[in-house]
Amino acid sequence: MEKKSSNSDSHSFYITTPIFYPNARLHLGHAYTTTVCDILARYHRLKGDKTYFLTGSDENTEKVVRAATVAGKSTKDYLDEIVGNFKDLFSKLGISYDQFIRTTDEINHYSGAIELWNRINKSGDLEKRSYKGLYCVGHESFITEKDLVDGKCPDHNELPQVLEETNWFFKLSKYTEAIKEKISSNEFKIVPDSRRNEILALLDRGLEDISFSRPANTVSIGIPVPNDSSQKMYVWCDALSNYISALGFGRTEDSLYKEFWPANVHVIGKDILRFHAAIWPAMLLSAGIPLPKTLFVHGFITSGGKKMSKSLGNVIDPLQLIEEYGAEAVRYYLARHISPFEDGDITLESFREAYNAHLANGLGNLVSRVMKMAEANLEAPAVIPEWEDMTEYFSYLEKFEINKAVDCIWAAITEIDKRIQEDQPFKLVKADKDRGQKIISELVVKLYSVARMLNPILPDTSVKMKKYIKENKTPSTPLFPRKE
Ligand code: MSP
Repeated sequence: MEKKSSNSDSHSFYITTPIFYPNARLHLGHAYTTTVCDILARYHRLKGDKTYFLTGSDENTEKVVRAATVAGKSTKDYLDEIVGNFKDLFSKLGISYDQFIRTTDEINHYSGAIELWNRINKSGDLEKRSYKGLYCVGHESFITEKDLVDGKCPDHNELPQVLEETNWFFKLSKYTEAIKEKISSNEFKIVPDSRRNEILALLDRGLEDISFSRPANTVSIGIPVPNDSSQKMYVWCDALSNYISALGFGRTEDSLYKEFWPANVHVIGKDILRFHAAIWPAMLLSAGIPLPKTLFVHGFITSGGKKMSKSLGNVIDPLQLIEEYGAEAVRYYLARHISPFEDGDITLESFREAYNAHLANGLGNLVSRVMKMAEANLEAPAVIPEWEDMTEYFSYLEKFEINKAVDCIWAAITEIDKRIQEDQPFKLVKADKDRGQKIISELVVKLYSVARMLNPILPDTSVKMKKYIKENKTPSTPLFPRKE
Protein backbone atom coordinates (compact mmCIF):
# COMPACT_ATOMS: atom_id res chain seq x y z
CA MET A 1 0.00 0.00 0.00
CA GLU A 2 1.40 3.35 -0.99
CA LYS A 3 -1.17 5.50 0.69
CA LYS A 4 -3.95 4.80 3.10
CA SER A 5 -7.17 4.71 1.23
CA SER A 6 -10.59 4.10 2.65
CA ASN A 7 -14.03 4.23 1.09
CA SER A 8 -14.51 7.74 2.35
CA ASP A 9 -11.52 9.24 0.53
CA SER A 10 -11.80 7.13 -2.63
CA HIS A 11 -13.38 8.97 -5.56
CA SER A 12 -14.17 8.21 -9.13
CA PHE A 13 -11.81 9.81 -11.60
CA TYR A 14 -12.44 10.02 -15.34
CA ILE A 15 -9.66 11.26 -17.63
CA THR A 16 -9.56 11.51 -21.42
CA THR A 17 -7.08 12.17 -24.23
CA PRO A 18 -8.24 13.89 -27.40
CA ILE A 19 -9.15 11.30 -30.02
CA PHE A 20 -6.45 11.17 -32.67
CA TYR A 21 -6.85 11.55 -36.42
CA PRO A 22 -5.77 8.28 -37.99
CA ASN A 23 -4.47 9.83 -41.20
CA ALA A 24 -0.84 9.13 -40.29
CA ARG A 25 1.20 7.39 -37.59
CA LEU A 26 1.39 9.15 -34.25
CA HIS A 27 4.46 11.26 -33.55
CA LEU A 28 6.06 12.24 -30.26
CA GLY A 29 3.66 15.21 -29.83
CA HIS A 30 0.70 12.82 -29.78
CA ALA A 31 2.61 10.49 -27.48
CA TYR A 32 3.03 13.43 -25.11
CA THR A 33 -0.72 13.99 -24.59
CA THR A 34 -1.22 10.29 -24.05
CA THR A 35 1.71 9.84 -21.66
CA VAL A 36 0.58 12.80 -19.56
CA CYS A 37 -2.89 11.25 -19.27
CA ASP A 38 -1.39 7.91 -18.39
CA ILE A 39 0.73 9.43 -15.62
CA LEU A 40 -2.32 11.16 -14.16
CA ALA A 41 -4.45 8.01 -14.45
CA ARG A 42 -1.78 5.93 -12.69
CA TYR A 43 -1.42 8.57 -10.00
CA HIS A 44 -5.14 8.47 -9.28
CA ARG A 45 -5.14 4.67 -9.14
CA LEU A 46 -2.21 4.87 -6.71
CA LYS A 47 -4.23 7.27 -4.56
CA GLY A 48 -7.03 4.73 -4.49
CA ASP A 49 -9.44 6.53 -6.83
CA LYS A 50 -11.70 4.46 -9.05
CA THR A 51 -10.18 5.55 -12.34
CA TYR A 52 -11.40 5.37 -15.93
CA PHE A 53 -9.05 6.38 -18.73
CA LEU A 54 -10.38 6.90 -22.26
CA THR A 55 -8.53 7.37 -25.52
CA GLY A 56 -9.44 6.72 -29.14
CA SER A 57 -9.48 7.77 -32.78
CA ASP A 58 -11.36 10.47 -34.67
CA GLU A 59 -12.19 8.63 -37.88
CA ASN A 60 -15.06 10.39 -39.64
CA THR A 61 -12.84 12.88 -41.41
CA GLU A 62 -11.98 13.60 -45.02
CA LYS A 63 -8.28 13.46 -44.07
CA VAL A 64 -8.65 9.72 -43.51
CA VAL A 65 -10.41 9.16 -46.83
CA ARG A 66 -7.65 11.06 -48.61
CA ALA A 67 -4.87 9.18 -46.81
CA ALA A 68 -6.54 5.83 -47.61
CA THR A 69 -6.77 6.78 -51.29
CA VAL A 70 -3.10 7.74 -51.38
CA ALA A 71 -2.22 4.41 -49.73
CA GLY A 72 -4.39 2.59 -52.30
CA LYS A 73 -6.52 0.98 -49.60
CA SER A 74 -10.19 0.92 -48.68
CA THR A 75 -11.02 3.39 -45.91
CA LYS A 76 -11.90 0.55 -43.55
CA ASP A 77 -8.68 -1.43 -44.18
CA TYR A 78 -6.63 1.72 -43.88
CA LEU A 79 -8.31 2.70 -40.60
CA ASP A 80 -7.92 -0.76 -39.09
CA GLU A 81 -4.23 -0.73 -39.93
CA ILE A 82 -3.53 2.74 -38.52
CA VAL A 83 -5.62 2.15 -35.41
CA GLY A 84 -3.66 -1.09 -34.96
CA ASN A 85 -0.46 1.03 -35.06
CA PHE A 86 -1.88 3.43 -32.46
CA LYS A 87 -2.70 0.57 -30.12
CA ASP A 88 0.71 -1.00 -30.67
CA LEU A 89 2.44 2.27 -29.77
CA PHE A 90 0.26 2.74 -26.68
CA SER A 91 0.96 -0.77 -25.52
CA LYS A 92 4.73 -0.31 -25.98
CA LEU A 93 4.57 3.01 -24.10
CA GLY A 94 2.72 1.37 -21.20
CA ILE A 95 -0.46 3.43 -21.70
CA SER A 96 -2.98 1.95 -19.26
CA TYR A 97 -6.20 3.06 -20.97
CA ASP A 98 -9.48 1.38 -20.09
CA GLN A 99 -11.16 1.94 -23.43
CA PHE A 100 -10.19 2.90 -26.97
CA ILE A 101 -13.20 4.48 -28.70
CA ARG A 102 -13.43 4.63 -32.49
CA THR A 103 -15.92 7.10 -33.95
CA THR A 104 -16.76 4.72 -36.81
CA ASP A 105 -18.02 2.25 -34.18
CA GLU A 106 -21.76 2.29 -34.81
CA ILE A 107 -22.60 0.35 -31.66
CA ASN A 108 -20.44 2.15 -29.12
CA HIS A 109 -20.26 5.65 -30.57
CA TYR A 110 -23.09 6.48 -32.99
CA SER A 111 -25.91 6.14 -30.45
CA GLY A 112 -24.28 8.64 -28.07
CA ALA A 113 -23.56 11.15 -30.83
CA ILE A 114 -27.12 10.84 -32.15
CA GLU A 115 -28.70 11.16 -28.69
CA LEU A 116 -26.66 14.30 -28.05
CA TRP A 117 -27.71 15.76 -31.41
CA ASN A 118 -31.35 15.00 -30.63
CA ARG A 119 -31.14 16.69 -27.25
CA ILE A 120 -29.53 19.81 -28.75
CA ASN A 121 -32.23 19.85 -31.42
CA LYS A 122 -34.95 19.48 -28.79
CA SER A 123 -33.60 22.61 -27.06
CA GLY A 124 -34.22 24.51 -30.31
CA ASP A 125 -30.50 25.12 -30.86
CA LEU A 126 -30.19 23.64 -34.36
CA GLU A 127 -31.40 25.48 -37.43
CA LYS A 128 -30.93 25.01 -41.18
CA ARG A 129 -29.19 27.95 -42.88
CA SER A 130 -27.32 28.51 -46.09
CA TYR A 131 -23.74 29.51 -45.74
CA LYS A 132 -20.75 30.50 -47.80
CA GLY A 133 -17.26 30.24 -46.41
CA LEU A 134 -13.72 28.92 -46.56
CA TYR A 135 -13.13 25.45 -45.19
CA CYS A 136 -9.78 23.98 -44.15
CA VAL A 137 -9.78 20.17 -44.15
CA GLY A 138 -6.56 20.17 -42.06
CA HIS A 139 -8.38 21.99 -39.26
CA GLU A 140 -11.73 20.42 -40.10
CA SER A 141 -13.27 23.84 -39.61
CA PHE A 142 -14.25 27.00 -41.42
CA ILE A 143 -11.58 29.67 -41.43
CA THR A 144 -11.62 33.31 -42.42
CA GLU A 145 -9.75 35.35 -45.03
CA LYS A 146 -7.66 36.95 -42.32
CA ASP A 147 -6.36 33.53 -41.14
CA LEU A 148 -4.75 32.95 -44.54
CA VAL A 149 -1.16 33.64 -45.56
CA ASP A 150 -0.67 33.93 -49.34
CA GLY A 151 -4.17 32.53 -49.74
CA LYS A 152 -3.27 29.34 -47.81
CA CYS A 153 -3.92 28.03 -44.31
CA PRO A 154 -0.51 28.61 -42.68
CA ASP A 155 -0.85 25.61 -40.32
CA HIS A 156 -1.48 23.11 -43.10
CA ASN A 157 0.06 24.93 -46.04
CA GLU A 158 -3.07 24.22 -48.06
CA LEU A 159 -5.59 26.21 -50.11
CA PRO A 160 -8.97 26.28 -48.32
CA GLN A 161 -12.10 24.99 -50.07
CA VAL A 162 -14.75 27.59 -50.96
CA LEU A 163 -18.04 26.14 -49.73
CA GLU A 164 -21.55 27.34 -50.36
CA GLU A 165 -23.90 24.99 -48.61
CA THR A 166 -27.10 24.60 -46.66
CA ASN A 167 -26.20 23.15 -43.29
CA TRP A 168 -27.55 22.70 -39.83
CA PHE A 169 -26.25 25.50 -37.63
CA PHE A 170 -25.69 25.26 -33.88
CA LYS A 171 -26.67 28.41 -31.98
CA LEU A 172 -23.34 28.67 -30.19
CA SER A 173 -23.60 32.46 -29.71
CA LYS A 174 -26.48 31.93 -27.30
CA TYR A 175 -24.14 30.27 -24.79
CA THR A 176 -21.37 32.90 -24.66
CA GLU A 177 -22.41 34.35 -21.29
CA ALA A 178 -23.23 31.02 -19.65
CA ILE A 179 -19.83 29.58 -20.59
CA LYS A 180 -18.05 32.73 -19.45
CA GLU A 181 -19.71 32.39 -16.07
CA LYS A 182 -18.77 28.69 -15.72
CA ILE A 183 -15.14 29.44 -16.58
CA SER A 184 -14.85 32.62 -14.46
CA SER A 185 -16.29 30.85 -11.43
CA ASN A 186 -13.94 27.88 -12.02
CA GLU A 187 -16.90 25.56 -12.07
CA PHE A 188 -15.36 24.63 -15.41
CA LYS A 189 -11.69 25.04 -14.62
CA ILE A 190 -9.14 25.75 -17.32
CA VAL A 191 -5.49 25.12 -16.51
CA PRO A 192 -3.11 26.95 -16.91
CA ASP A 193 -4.30 30.53 -16.32
CA SER A 194 -2.81 31.73 -19.61
CA ARG A 195 -5.22 29.45 -21.52
CA ARG A 196 -8.11 30.42 -19.26
CA ASN A 197 -7.43 34.07 -20.07
CA GLU A 198 -7.14 33.31 -23.76
CA ILE A 199 -10.58 31.73 -23.86
CA LEU A 200 -12.13 34.41 -21.66
CA ALA A 201 -10.86 37.02 -24.12
CA LEU A 202 -12.43 35.07 -26.97
CA LEU A 203 -15.71 34.93 -25.07
CA ASP A 204 -15.52 38.68 -24.48
CA ARG A 205 -15.50 39.13 -28.24
CA GLY A 206 -18.59 36.87 -28.43
CA LEU A 207 -19.05 33.47 -30.06
CA GLU A 208 -20.59 33.02 -33.50
CA ASP A 209 -23.05 30.29 -34.46
CA ILE A 210 -21.34 27.43 -36.26
CA SER A 211 -22.15 25.01 -39.02
CA PHE A 212 -22.80 21.62 -37.43
CA SER A 213 -23.41 19.44 -40.49
CA ARG A 214 -22.22 18.98 -44.07
CA PRO A 215 -24.25 17.89 -47.11
CA ALA A 216 -24.11 14.08 -47.34
CA ASN A 217 -23.26 14.28 -51.05
CA THR A 218 -20.09 16.35 -50.44
CA VAL A 219 -18.53 14.36 -47.59
CA SER A 220 -17.90 10.67 -47.96
CA ILE A 221 -17.71 9.73 -44.30
CA GLY A 222 -19.68 10.67 -41.19
CA ILE A 223 -22.67 10.02 -38.96
CA PRO A 224 -26.02 10.71 -40.67
CA VAL A 225 -27.98 13.56 -39.10
CA PRO A 226 -31.09 12.13 -37.39
CA ASN A 227 -34.21 12.64 -39.56
CA ASP A 228 -32.28 14.36 -42.34
CA SER A 229 -30.49 11.93 -44.62
CA SER A 230 -29.27 14.80 -46.81
CA GLN A 231 -26.76 15.80 -44.09
CA LYS A 232 -23.90 14.30 -42.07
CA MET A 233 -22.75 15.55 -38.70
CA TYR A 234 -19.85 17.98 -38.63
CA VAL A 235 -16.79 16.00 -37.59
CA TRP A 236 -16.10 18.04 -34.42
CA CYS A 237 -19.71 17.66 -33.26
CA ASP A 238 -19.31 13.92 -33.76
CA ALA A 239 -15.81 13.78 -32.23
CA LEU A 240 -16.51 15.75 -29.05
CA SER A 241 -19.39 13.46 -28.20
CA ASN A 242 -16.92 10.56 -27.83
CA TYR A 243 -16.29 11.61 -24.23
CA ILE A 244 -19.83 10.56 -23.30
CA SER A 245 -20.70 8.04 -26.04
CA ALA A 246 -17.81 5.86 -24.83
CA LEU A 247 -19.43 5.70 -21.39
CA GLY A 248 -22.75 4.49 -22.77
CA PHE A 249 -24.61 7.80 -23.08
CA GLY A 250 -27.55 7.16 -25.41
CA ARG A 251 -27.36 3.41 -24.87
CA THR A 252 -29.33 1.13 -22.57
CA GLU A 253 -26.14 0.06 -20.80
CA ASP A 254 -24.99 3.39 -19.42
CA SER A 255 -23.61 2.47 -16.01
CA LEU A 256 -20.17 3.89 -16.85
CA TYR A 257 -21.81 7.18 -17.80
CA LYS A 258 -23.68 7.27 -14.50
CA GLU A 259 -20.54 6.47 -12.58
CA PHE A 260 -17.95 8.62 -14.33
CA TRP A 261 -19.58 11.64 -15.97
CA PRO A 262 -18.76 14.54 -15.58
CA ALA A 263 -15.15 13.96 -16.56
CA ASN A 264 -12.58 15.11 -14.04
CA VAL A 265 -10.01 16.06 -16.66
CA HIS A 266 -9.93 16.40 -20.43
CA VAL A 267 -6.29 16.70 -21.49
CA ILE A 268 -5.78 18.57 -24.78
CA GLY A 269 -3.13 20.47 -26.72
CA LYS A 270 -3.42 24.24 -27.09
CA ASP A 271 -4.54 24.06 -30.76
CA ILE A 272 -7.89 22.53 -29.86
CA LEU A 273 -8.75 24.83 -26.94
CA ARG A 274 -11.65 26.62 -28.66
CA PHE A 275 -13.38 23.34 -29.51
CA HIS A 276 -13.13 22.11 -25.92
CA ALA A 277 -13.61 25.36 -24.00
CA ALA A 278 -16.38 26.92 -26.10
CA ILE A 279 -18.14 24.47 -28.46
CA TRP A 280 -18.12 21.40 -26.17
CA PRO A 281 -19.48 23.17 -23.06
CA ALA A 282 -22.14 24.87 -25.21
CA MET A 283 -23.26 21.50 -26.60
CA LEU A 284 -23.48 20.09 -23.09
CA LEU A 285 -25.34 23.12 -21.71
CA SER A 286 -27.81 22.92 -24.57
CA ALA A 287 -28.38 19.21 -23.91
CA GLY A 288 -28.71 19.71 -20.13
CA ILE A 289 -25.59 17.65 -19.35
CA PRO A 290 -23.11 18.66 -16.61
CA LEU A 291 -19.81 20.15 -17.81
CA PRO A 292 -16.45 18.46 -17.32
CA LYS A 293 -14.62 19.71 -14.24
CA THR A 294 -11.21 20.57 -15.66
CA LEU A 295 -9.58 21.17 -18.99
CA PHE A 296 -5.81 20.78 -18.84
CA VAL A 297 -4.22 22.43 -21.86
CA HIS A 298 -0.62 21.60 -22.67
CA GLY A 299 1.74 23.25 -25.14
CA PHE A 300 3.42 21.80 -28.18
CA ILE A 301 6.45 19.65 -28.51
CA THR A 302 8.73 21.45 -30.86
CA SER A 303 11.73 20.06 -32.65
CA GLY A 304 14.45 22.50 -33.50
CA GLY A 305 12.09 25.31 -32.38
CA LYS A 306 9.15 24.41 -34.68
CA LYS A 307 5.90 22.58 -33.82
CA MET A 308 6.41 18.90 -34.46
CA SER A 309 3.98 18.05 -37.22
CA LYS A 310 3.71 15.87 -40.25
CA SER A 311 3.16 18.83 -42.54
CA LEU A 312 6.41 20.46 -41.37
CA GLY A 313 8.29 17.18 -41.77
CA ASN A 314 10.11 17.40 -38.42
CA VAL A 315 8.45 14.53 -36.62
CA ILE A 316 10.25 12.21 -34.24
CA ASP A 317 8.81 8.70 -34.29
CA PRO A 318 8.28 7.55 -30.71
CA LEU A 319 8.68 3.92 -31.79
CA GLN A 320 12.21 4.62 -32.95
CA LEU A 321 13.12 6.16 -29.58
CA ILE A 322 11.48 3.26 -27.76
CA GLU A 323 13.49 0.79 -29.81
CA GLU A 324 16.77 2.48 -29.04
CA TYR A 325 16.26 3.65 -25.47
CA GLY A 326 13.20 1.80 -24.13
CA ALA A 327 9.72 3.10 -23.35
CA GLU A 328 10.65 4.19 -19.83
CA ALA A 329 13.25 6.59 -21.23
CA VAL A 330 10.63 8.17 -23.51
CA ARG A 331 8.19 8.52 -20.62
CA TYR A 332 10.97 10.05 -18.52
CA TYR A 333 11.87 12.67 -21.12
CA LEU A 334 8.26 13.65 -21.79
CA ALA A 335 7.44 13.88 -18.10
CA ARG A 336 10.47 15.84 -16.96
CA HIS A 337 11.93 17.75 -19.86
CA ILE A 338 8.74 19.07 -21.45
CA SER A 339 6.96 21.74 -19.44
CA PRO A 340 3.29 20.78 -19.04
CA PHE A 341 2.08 24.32 -19.73
CA GLU A 342 4.43 25.68 -22.36
CA ASP A 343 6.08 24.49 -25.54
CA GLY A 344 9.07 22.23 -25.03
CA ASP A 345 11.81 21.34 -27.45
CA ILE A 346 13.36 17.97 -28.14
CA THR A 347 16.18 16.92 -30.38
CA LEU A 348 17.79 13.51 -30.59
CA GLU A 349 20.88 15.02 -28.91
CA SER A 350 18.95 16.51 -25.98
CA PHE A 351 17.21 13.17 -25.54
CA ARG A 352 20.47 11.19 -25.44
CA GLU A 353 22.09 13.64 -23.05
CA ALA A 354 19.17 13.52 -20.63
CA TYR A 355 19.10 9.72 -20.86
CA ASN A 356 22.78 9.32 -20.05
CA ALA A 357 22.91 11.95 -17.33
CA HIS A 358 19.74 11.10 -15.42
CA LEU A 359 18.86 7.51 -16.24
CA ALA A 360 22.11 5.67 -17.08
CA ASN A 361 24.50 7.57 -14.77
CA GLY A 362 21.76 8.74 -12.39
CA LEU A 363 18.97 6.39 -11.38
CA GLY A 364 20.30 3.20 -13.03
CA ASN A 365 23.76 3.57 -11.53
CA LEU A 366 22.36 4.37 -8.09
CA VAL A 367 20.14 1.27 -8.04
CA SER A 368 23.15 -0.91 -8.93
CA ARG A 369 25.41 0.68 -6.29
CA VAL A 370 22.92 0.54 -3.43
CA MET A 371 21.74 -2.98 -4.22
CA LYS A 372 25.32 -4.23 -4.58
CA MET A 373 26.10 -2.96 -1.07
CA ALA A 374 22.85 -4.39 0.25
CA GLU A 375 23.33 -7.83 -1.30
CA ALA A 376 26.90 -8.05 -0.04
CA ASN A 377 26.32 -6.76 3.47
CA LEU A 378 22.73 -7.27 4.62
CA GLU A 379 21.76 -10.68 5.93
CA ALA A 380 18.10 -10.14 4.98
CA PRO A 381 16.17 -7.67 2.81
CA ALA A 382 15.80 -4.24 4.44
CA VAL A 383 12.52 -3.70 6.29
CA ILE A 384 10.32 -1.33 4.27
CA PRO A 385 7.64 0.75 6.01
CA GLU A 386 4.11 -0.17 4.85
CA TRP A 387 3.16 3.40 4.13
CA GLU A 388 4.78 6.77 3.69
CA ASP A 389 3.65 10.31 3.29
CA MET A 390 3.99 11.49 -0.32
CA THR A 391 2.06 14.73 0.11
CA GLU A 392 4.59 17.02 -1.54
CA TYR A 393 5.04 14.74 -4.54
CA PHE A 394 1.29 14.20 -4.91
CA SER A 395 0.62 17.94 -4.64
CA TYR A 396 2.53 18.55 -7.89
CA LEU A 397 0.63 15.84 -9.73
CA GLU A 398 -2.61 17.27 -8.39
CA LYS A 399 -1.69 20.59 -10.07
CA PHE A 400 -0.56 18.85 -13.30
CA GLU A 401 3.01 20.02 -12.62
CA ILE A 402 4.38 16.70 -13.76
CA ASN A 403 7.91 17.99 -14.40
CA LYS A 404 8.13 19.31 -10.83
CA ALA A 405 6.85 16.00 -9.47
CA VAL A 406 9.69 14.26 -11.32
CA ASP A 407 12.16 16.86 -10.00
CA CYS A 408 11.05 15.79 -6.52
CA ILE A 409 12.05 12.19 -7.32
CA TRP A 410 15.43 13.29 -8.65
CA ALA A 411 15.99 15.40 -5.54
CA ALA A 412 15.57 12.19 -3.51
CA ILE A 413 18.03 10.42 -5.84
CA THR A 414 20.61 13.21 -5.37
CA GLU A 415 20.15 12.97 -1.63
CA ILE A 416 20.87 9.23 -1.61
CA ASP A 417 23.98 9.81 -3.74
CA LYS A 418 25.16 12.50 -1.34
CA ARG A 419 24.64 10.24 1.66
CA ILE A 420 26.74 7.50 0.03
CA GLN A 421 29.54 9.96 -0.64
CA GLU A 422 29.47 11.43 2.85
CA ASP A 423 29.11 8.23 4.88
CA GLN A 424 30.97 5.83 2.59
CA PRO A 425 29.01 2.87 3.96
CA PHE A 426 30.97 0.36 1.80
CA LYS A 427 34.08 1.25 3.86
CA LEU A 428 32.29 1.82 7.16
CA VAL A 429 30.72 -1.64 7.14
CA LYS A 430 34.24 -3.15 7.37
CA ALA A 431 35.21 -1.04 10.38
CA ASP A 432 31.83 -0.95 12.17
CA LYS A 433 29.54 -3.64 10.81
CA ASP A 434 26.40 -2.62 12.78
CA ARG A 435 26.58 1.02 11.85
CA GLY A 436 27.49 0.25 8.24
CA GLN A 437 24.53 -2.14 7.93
CA LYS A 438 22.21 0.42 9.48
CA ILE A 439 23.19 3.06 6.94
CA ILE A 440 22.89 0.62 4.02
CA SER A 441 19.40 -0.37 5.21
CA GLU A 442 18.43 3.28 5.39
CA LEU A 443 19.66 3.82 1.85
CA VAL A 444 17.60 0.87 0.63
CA VAL A 445 14.51 2.28 2.37
CA LYS A 446 15.11 5.62 0.63
CA LEU A 447 15.54 3.83 -2.68
CA TYR A 448 12.22 2.10 -2.09
CA SER A 449 10.65 5.50 -1.59
CA VAL A 450 12.03 6.53 -5.01
CA ALA A 451 10.47 3.37 -6.50
CA ARG A 452 7.13 4.28 -4.94
CA MET A 453 7.20 7.76 -6.42
CA LEU A 454 8.22 6.37 -9.80
CA ASN A 455 5.06 4.25 -9.99
CA PRO A 456 3.02 6.60 -12.24
CA ILE A 457 6.00 7.94 -14.21
CA LEU A 458 8.18 4.88 -14.90
CA PRO A 459 5.90 1.99 -13.96
CA ASP A 460 8.19 -0.85 -15.12
CA THR A 461 11.27 0.57 -13.42
CA SER A 462 9.26 1.03 -10.24
CA VAL A 463 8.19 -2.64 -10.23
CA LYS A 464 11.72 -3.86 -10.98
CA MET A 465 13.27 -1.74 -8.21
CA LYS A 466 10.75 -2.99 -5.68
CA LYS A 467 11.50 -6.58 -6.68
CA TYR A 468 15.30 -6.15 -6.33
CA ILE A 469 14.83 -4.50 -2.94
CA LYS A 470 12.45 -7.19 -1.66
CA GLU A 471 14.79 -9.95 -2.87
CA ASN A 472 17.90 -8.05 -1.73
CA LYS A 473 19.51 -8.57 -5.14
CA THR A 474 21.68 -6.48 -7.47
CA PRO A 475 20.16 -6.06 -10.97
CA SER A 476 21.77 -8.65 -13.26
CA THR A 477 21.94 -6.10 -16.09
CA PRO A 478 21.95 -2.29 -15.72
CA LEU A 479 18.45 -0.77 -15.72
CA PHE A 480 19.55 1.90 -18.21
CA PRO A 481 22.69 1.00 -20.20
CA ARG A 482 24.74 4.00 -21.27
CA LYS A 483 24.31 5.09 -24.90
CA GLU A 484 27.07 6.67 -26.95
N1 MSP B 1 -9.08 14.76 -33.66
C1 MSP B 1 -8.79 16.00 -33.03
C2 MSP B 1 -9.18 15.95 -31.56
C3 MSP B 1 -10.61 15.62 -31.29
S1 MSP B 1 -10.94 15.51 -29.57
C4 MSP B 1 -12.60 15.40 -29.47
C5 MSP B 1 -7.30 16.29 -33.14
N2 MSP B 1 -6.51 15.25 -33.43
S2 MSP B 1 -4.93 15.31 -33.66
O1 MSP B 1 -4.53 13.96 -33.94
O2 MSP B 1 -4.63 16.30 -34.65
O3 MSP B 1 -4.29 15.84 -32.33
C6 MSP B 1 -4.48 15.14 -31.13
C7 MSP B 1 -3.75 15.81 -29.99
O4 MSP B 1 -2.34 15.79 -30.25
C8 MSP B 1 -4.14 17.27 -29.79
O5 MSP B 1 -4.34 17.52 -28.40
C9 MSP B 1 -2.93 18.03 -30.27
O6 MSP B 1 -2.75 19.23 -29.57
C10 MSP B 1 -1.84 17.06 -29.92
N3 MSP B 1 -0.62 17.35 -30.68
C11 MSP B 1 -0.42 17.30 -32.03
N4 MSP B 1 0.84 17.75 -32.30
C12 MSP B 1 1.44 18.11 -31.14
C13 MSP B 1 2.72 18.52 -30.78
N5 MSP B 1 3.67 18.75 -31.67
N6 MSP B 1 2.99 18.65 -29.44
C14 MSP B 1 2.08 18.32 -28.47
N7 MSP B 1 0.87 17.92 -28.78
C15 MSP B 1 0.46 17.99 -30.10
O7 MSP B 1 -6.90 17.42 -32.96
